Amino acid sequence: MSSSPWWRQAAVYQVYLRSFADGNGDGTGDIAGLRSRLPYIRDLGVDALWVNPWYVSPLHDGGYDVVDYRNIDPRFGTLDEAVAMIDEARNLGLEVMVDLVPNHTSSEHPWFREALASPPGSNPRSRYHFRTGRGPDGDTPPNDWRSVFGGEAWSRAPDGEWYLHLFDVTQPDLNWESPEVRAEFRQILRFWLERRASGFRVDVAHGLGKDPMFPDLGHIDELLTSHGGVNHPYWDRPEIHDIFREWRTILDDYPGAVMVAEAWVDTWERLALYLRPGEFHQAFDFDFLMAPWEASHMKESIDRALSGAGAVGSVPTWVLSNHDVVRHVTRYGLPDGLDAREWLLDGDRSLLDLELGSRRARAAALLMLALPGSVYLYQGEELGLAEVDDLPLEILDDPVWKRSGQKLKGRDGCRVPIPWTIGGQSLGFGVDGSWLPQPAGWGGQSVEAQDGVDGSTLGLYRSALHHRREHLLGDEILEWLDLGEEAIAFRRGSGILVVVNFGNDPIDLPAGELLLANAELVEGRLSSDSTAWIVERT
Ligand code: GLC
Repeated sequence: MSSSPWWRQAAVYQVYLRSFADGNGDGTGDIAGLRSRLPYIRDLGVDALWVNPWYVSPLHDGGYDVVDYRNIDPRFGTLDEAVAMIDEARNLGLEVMVDLVPNHTSSEHPWFREALASPPGSNPRSRYHFRTGRGPDGDTPPNDWRSVFGGEAWSRAPDGEWYLHLFDVTQPDLNWESPEVRAEFRQILRFWLERRASGFRVDVAHGLGKDPMFPDLGHIDELLTSHGGVNHPYWDRPEIHDIFREWRTILDDYPGAVMVAEAWVDTWERLALYLRPGEFHQAFDFDFLMAPWEASHMKESIDRALSGAGAVGSVPTWVLSNHDVVRHVTRYGLPDGLDAREWLLDGDRSLLDLELGSRRARAAALLMLALPGSVYLYQGEELGLAEVDDLPLEILDDPVWKRSGQKLKGRDGCRVPIPWTIGGQSLGFGVDGSWLPQPAGWGGQSVEAQDGVDGSTLGLYRSALHHRREHLLGDEILEWLDLGEEAIAFRRGSGILVVVNFGNDPIDLPAGELLLANAELVEGRLSSDSTAWIVERT
């Protein structure tokens, strides 16, 4: 093991609390459920967990609509339970990252209620973005900005002013030019750091700045897309980096505290700005997540990340799935170039090859876990879960479904409660059903079904995480090897060779002892859509 900070090559497990484990039997996952499953997370072999928002919230956007940043929603538990969970996790050797939601509050937040009750131009309104409308009666929104979830980004207050919400109408954007907003979040950071949180996943980090002139955009961005190039009036604006530098000085008071940016930006040059010394420790590399399953694309994406992060003295943060994207088993099982989010609604189901997707997903996991840098794993990916693509329309909970004018089904299909047991009520998730229905047959992919089973995806993740700790964390060196156009291959500094075969035909492996592979070798050769880790023969 190296002596570098824990986060540089950490494996972090993302807990979507609502869907992880239900301790009180109300159908919604909660802190009690999470506490009972902490040993499971520890035994996977990860270093940390990240918990999606657990704050008081009407849950119009799964908790990304926060009413009280210093308290827990009763459906998830209590503040005491949250603190106890953090302590227990830390006693098991797991760091705990909490989700910070600084771009917007809930419309039920006391600040927003106060703003609505106060006149235009008043201080309470200055914490958000209120503007007068256009047209003689001011009944046209102040500009043409659109919500990421669809529809206009402005809604009208009862007195006629408009307020900005880049997401749901119940998520008014905060004004980060307001000194009060800045002061409040400095305190929120300290609040959780004092309760031994190890840091923060920062939601929509790239959205905090707004062009004060509020210019028209002149076009409509694609739904569920939150990036838009340089000089965009609200994405990735340069002034936001001051905020992050301020936060970093606070984190630096707490040894080991880390922040990771959710920043959807266009290029690695832009992402690297978030990773400069004195800013974020980590920033998710969504370019890798979105790269098509093809050797040259994958290699180029990895190269961009290594050199982009390396240029600022940092390392990439790899991720294949999270609570916002179609699970990668399904993405890799669909033809290249097809938008999986659109396909979910009414796409041709015969286009999905789940066997292929599963195989590629396992190969991709072994690729990702062998790269220098940190990795984030989304609950259920270690079970090989696919997107649930047949949720009935009438039960969809994601605001995207309604706001997109029912053009996109939204993100519920990757948020279905995970199966713990082969059978039983809600497959061990809880005792009395689950807030989204689990598909028939999911018990076969449960933890119980895979635990200790040779060749299972759970076993593969456990072995890979174990070998990663054992062999791959000594340095951050990656040296490319040439094994032809259909493969990517590299040597890690420790003498581990990693080979991924993207082609249709089996390929020869370099000499050495096989440590791990996602599929049986065929006469000593690595078959299609497979990854092998080999101890180099010296
Ligand atoms: C982030 C979250 C997503 C949420 C959005 C608005 O992208 O990951 O789930 O809907 O921000 O807070």
